[in-house]
Amino acid sequence: VMLPIVKISVIGCGYLGAVHAACMADFGHEVIALDIDAAKVERLGQGIPPFHEPGFEDVLKRALASGRLRFTTDPSAIGEAELHFIAVGTPQRGGSYAADLSQVDTAVAFLLDHARSDEQPVVVAGKSTVPVGTAQSIADRLAEGGLDAVVVWNPEFLREGYAVADTTRPDRVVYGLPEDAERGEIGRAALDEVYRPIIDSGTPRLLVNYPTAELVKVAANSFLATKISFINSMAELCDATGADVTRLAEAIGHDDRIGPKFLQAGIGFGGGCLPKDIRAFMARAGELGVDQSLTFLREVDSINMRRRDHAVELAAQMCGGRLVGLKVAVLGLTFKPDSDDVRDSPALDIAGRLWGRGANVVATDPAGADAVRRVRPDLQIVDTADEALQGADLVMLLTAWRDYVALDPAHAKSLVAVPRIIDGRNALDPTAWSQAGWDYRGMGRTAST
Ligand code: UGA
Repeated sequence: VMLPIVKISVIGCGYLGAVHAACMADFGHEVIALDIDAAKVERLGQGIPPFHEPGFEDVLKRALASGRLRFTTDPSAIGEAELHFIAVGTPQRGGSYAADLSQVDTAVAFLLDHARSDEQPVVVAGKSTVPVGTAQSIADRLAEGGLDAVVVWNPEFLREGYAVADTTRPDRVVYGLPEDAERGEIGRAALDEVYRPIIDSGTPRLLVNYPTAELVKVAANSFLATKISFINSMAELCDATGADVTRLAEAIGHDDRIGPKFLQAGIGFGGGCLPKDIRAFMARAGELGVDQSLTFLREVDSINMRRRDHAVELAAQMCGGRLVGLKVAVLGLTFKPDSDDVRDSPALDIAGRLWGRGANVVATDPAGADAVRRVRPDLQIVDTADEALQGADLVMLLTAWRDYVALDPAHAKSLVAVPRIIDGRNALDPTAWSQAGWDYRGMGRTAST
């Protein structure tokens, strides 16, 4: 079956935009992808991913080779497109919990300057995570600026590390449509055409209004964050009682109303999404006069931050109360494995705090070293786990990269000065490590269980 080719623009080539642009070109569409960062555009145009993402390079190269994907810094290049995706970042605003929407404003300005709606309305699909109310405000601004645009809010649920699969085979798609039924139909039809392979494979598609679509995204991330903080609060209870949180999670996870996923206790969640999304959500609820509805998220956030305090305290406690001058090997710095992202990374935060307490921190990470050197040039980073472990007084596994999980405890013991390990992700086998002579501590689990 030949797909009707849709001319698409993707505004913003960060994680979301770059992957989306390449996947849409791979679907057969003609895609122009825009970003103001010339270096990024240059690299993407050469088929070099600016971030670590399994499978992305293949799709990118294939899409470029097909001639259907172009990257540019020139906003006028989006003029030809029939459908524009907004995929810019919405980071946390400095000194506040709220989202910084300046990149969305820039995208709107680009659209007003260059998008065309000559014979029929142009479709603008928003994918960025935004405060509820943003879709309507974009629609209003485009209309006031004289562009006949149908705005559809189409949130994205991709996870780093699975970005290509999540984009091409999502669990569900959500279209937030305008109130006017006729215009809504234009938006629905345009997105169905673009997403034909997804729609045809029977993926659930929900047609909702703007605020619902905007809320779905932050509700999903809030629920995931809550699940993690829930199990981390149980980890605190387990530490206080001698229970094992990994077995507890396994047991409650068998109830399919609860489910086994996102119940891994550890040093908590980080990254560019969960932490800032729950904060922006709280800020927006305050503006809407319903802040009480989300006060529980404040607790979710503080349980999460407490994990980091706990990891540092446990480190000090295992080393007899003081960290000054001790060599601590930190394994993993990114916010999760299979990513080079260190935004709001619990591992990096903990490494920095250990350093602040006078420890001689020697860290390693398979993909995050370059990013860390940019934000924490003072931190000592080595290439391999073996180098980091050399002469260590304490080992901390903070990101569960496969290679670290596979470490042989006997070999590791031969490298360190003192065999003490904190398993910040409950990723190791406590029995194997204890039997090899290590003082093993997990998060909410003891070695004996
Ligand atoms: C998250 C959501 O999972 C995606 O669905 C969403 O689309 C994305 O944010 C977004 O808003 O764009 P991501 O930030 O890539 O995706 O990372 P997750 O896999 O959700 O992990 C977030 C953090 O939670 C990581 O630091 C991870 O280590 C931690 N985590 C996860 C736990 O501590 N325990 C768990 O059981 C699961």
